[in-house]
Amino acid sequence: MRRLNILAALLAIPSVALAWPWSQDMMNQPSIKPQEGVMTPFPKRSVPVMGIPTKVANREEARDLVNPIAVTAASLKKGRNLFIIYCSACHGLTGKADSPISSKIGAIDLTDDYVQKSLSEGWVWGTITFGSYVMPAYGIPNELGGSNDLSPEERWHVVNYLKNGLLNEKTTAVAIN
Ligand code: HEC
Repeated sequence: MRRLNILAALLAIPSVALAWPWSQDMMNQPSIKPQEGVMTPFPKRSVPVMGIPTKVANREEARDLVNPIAVTAASLKKGRNLFIIYCSACHGLTGKADSPISSKIGAIDLTDDYVQKSLSEGWVWGTITFGSYVMPAYGIPNELGGSNDLSPEERWHVVNYLKNGLLNEKTTAVAIN
């Protein structure tokens, strides 16, 4: 009897592990599996719901991207509003790292030469898209608290403002307009 029990238990193991030859019958259908064959092209005007940029995979690759959005009054205004909403909490309304939490989390002054002159527009766009070390991402949702809150165009508007408008701000920025 005991032996029978052991035998039954042994026989049951493959079924738990789905290892019987017929366990995979339904899986092996004559159908196209993921990554097989030629992918159907996306319908025109479809957008990636996860907001992942199609051209670059990380900040390094974004470094040399050319800003496709001209620096116009409209772009600067959009960028400024987005900056106040998304960036000022950490970097301060004037970008000078003067918000109440700037020093606590080590947010840097965005008006100094390092950001204004050394960092390329693509790098700043990449920083907003993918985040930095402490700074969260605004172009891709990730496990570090990143989101896809800002569209690619919106991120370029922020870049335009950061590089062409931030330095003109008064010491205390006025609210969104
Ligand atoms: C939650 C706080 C936080 C928010 C919000 C935030 N940042 Fe930052 N940011 C930081 C911190 C901290 C650093 C410095 C450490 C690091 O690189 O992560 C930084 C660094 C940067 C840098 C320098 C990157 C480099 O290569 O050294 C840029 C540019 C920047 N932020 C721009 C922005 C812009 C634009 C926004 C708004 C879209 C923004 N940040 C929103 C915290 C934040």
